Amino acid sequence: MASSKTATAAARAEELRDLLNQALIAYHVEDEPIMEDAAYDALYDELVALEEEHPELVTPDSPTRRVGGLSDKFEKVQHLEPMGSLEKVTTDEGLRKWDEDVRKRLRTGEPVAYVLEPKIDGLAVNLTYENGVLVRGATRGDGVQGEDVSRNIRTIKAIPLRLKGGAPALIEVRGEVYLPISGFRELNERLAGTNQKLAPNPRNAAAGSLRQKNSAITADRPLSIWVYGAGHREGVEFDTQFAMLEWLREHGLRTNPFAQRLESIDDVAAACVEWEKRRLELDYEIDGVVVKVDSLDQQRRLGVLHSRPRWARAYKWAPMTAVTRLLEIRIRVGRTGALNPWAIMEPVQVGGVTVTRATLHNEEDINRKQIRAGDDVIVQRAGDVIPQIVGPAGPHRRGTKEFRMPTHCPLCGTEIVKPEGEAMHRCPNRACPSRGLETLINWTGVADIEGVGEQTIRILWEQGLVRLLPDLYRLTKEQLVELEGFAEISASAAIESILRSKQVPFSRVLLGLNIPGIGWVLARNLASHFGTVDRLVAATPEEVAEVEGFGPDRAEDVVDWFADEQNRALVQELRDLGLRFELGADERPREGPLTGSTYVVTGTLERFSRDEAKTRLEALGAKVTDSVSAKTTGLVVGEEPGASKLTKARKAEVPILSEADLLVLLGES
Ligand code: IVH
Repeated sequence: MASSKTATAAARAEELRDLLNQALIAYHVEDEPIMEDAAYDALYDELVALEEEHPELVTPDSPTRRVGGLSDKFEKVQHLEPMGSLEKVTTDEGLRKWDEDVRKRLRTGEPVAYVLEPKIDGLAVNLTYENGVLVRGATRGDGVQGEDVSRNIRTIKAIPLRLKGGAPALIEVRGEVYLPISGFRELNERLAGTNQKLAPNPRNAAAGSLRQKNSAITADRPLSIWVYGAGHREGVEFDTQFAMLEWLREHGLRTNPFAQRLESIDDVAAACVEWEKRRLELDYEIDGVVVKVDSLDQQRRLGVLHSRPRWARAYKWAPMTAVTRLLEIRIRVGRTGALNPWAIMEPVQVGGVTVTRATLHNEEDINRKQIRAGDDVIVQRAGDVIPQIVGPAGPHRRGTKEFRMPTHCPLCGTEIVKPEGEAMHRCPNRACPSRGLETLINWTGVADIEGVGEQTIRILWEQGLVRLLPDLYRLTKEQLVELEGFAEISASAAIESILRSKQVPFSRVLLGLNIPGIGWVLARNLASHFGTVDRLVAATPEEVAEVEGFGPDRAEDVVDWFADEQNRALVQELRDLGLRFELGADERPREGPLTGSTYVVTGTLERFSRDEAKTRLEALGAKVTDSVSAKTTGLVVGEEPGASKLTKARKAEVPILSEADLLVLLGES
């Protein structure tokens, strides 16, 4: 009786293990969940109960073995086949030299195809599967011997405890454990919050997470893996690198979807350049791409030199994080009165550009991250164009002060306020010069005034020549010629382009007025909803709240702005000067081949400015908005795109389009 009960329990335990392991692969590796979270939890709890009752039924591939535990030290383990490292190249020339060397060594003049994949900046591991079951996970160590981190490896849900499908007697799977950038940021925030040393980059964070003595801590970090190859194997053979990747994928291992097989070194070189641009699209850090000869027969004939295969190269880029000294935190008062802190740093190379400035968010954020002037800090360029300070690079030096916002506006001396529930400090003075100055600077961009930029506006401001927008339209060539950097011709050209800017469409004028909360999408929505400024001025908060993208609060701000005496005078003056306060024919929505679709454009394009791209898309009937949602038809990505837009697009599965795709869409290619 008891034995038959045990037999049923054993069968059920096996069934549960299978189901749960399949569900984990489907969720973490294949991105195609096969059950609801609640169903998973219920089955998992059932297995836990069953194993408690029958401890003898616990197997090493049971998903319940993914929980924490303590190890006092990691045992050394020998890899069955050594884990080599990669020779690097950093230039197109280096890449082509290598290709020549490969061909020379192979002698026969036979074709050579390559496999290219991102080089993940994480930590190399060796996963040993015996008869399909994960029996050990080890770090690379010195390449011959690594450390047994099996307990920690098991907590990584993207690593299957049992391979899918028919399994070979033995295989060493090689891959890179990494921490996604989002996980890296969160981890550092947590570490800073508890006064611990921060991880300077995702690789260090991943390594630290994997070498925890307490695997419950590892389990708590969102580690993942990309598998890129195999070491020693028995009972399975491959002909090519690419076939090996396919096999690994089919057996439930997470291989990088961007791995590609290329037939010529020209294609490889082009892909390397392409990837340097695309690296920012990823939610994990890559420090280059790895190029491998595809044929395993060719690999064998090429061999290995000083544990570096002659059949592979790492094409590497400059790192995206660096350490430098934070010299000073300065404040800039924005055009809405918000006090924006920013950092001045000792110049440092990050991702191939020299960086001296970084944005900082607000007082609370600065202090939570323990960022202090005088300290060495970690600087990171992620998706954003402007670098960020991640946190201090080492333990704090004593005596450096916590950052405090000024109590009075650095420009007009008005007492600073911090509205309840808001993170930003503000100068409440509507007449604060910053607002005027920032509005003017902003206007040169909004109205596309060529030859008059921030520098010129600052000089004009300092000389008292321009205070408000209308002053700009009363400038004379004679006044400009007097200024540094202007001569006869450039002054005439600047005046001409100022005058031309009177023709900017109504929606742009609204945008340039610097109404709180109004970006270019809302400005356009206001313009097309009301059609004329008179109707807008007459609108009630309820009426404004009906405009797409507005809620009661934003509507209130708009109505308040137009209720202000000075603002109305400003509008009137601009109108008298000939600026457009009515919707032009060119601003009405068009019917066209793209009617009904919505695009977002991010980053810098080569062929057009972002505004031009918008105009062109709109001319074909498309809507162009500022933020990605599930309704977005496509995200057009240029260079240095916004990270959050990309992340959102990937989450919502919005197609990501390159500039080339855009050209096709516009019928130009
Ligand atoms: S193949 C013989 N492919 O880069 C070594 N390595 O210096 C073959 N890495 O420690 C390695 N992404 O951890 C390979 N897609 C990838 C990789 C990759 C990251 C790491 C690997 C190794 C280092 C090579």
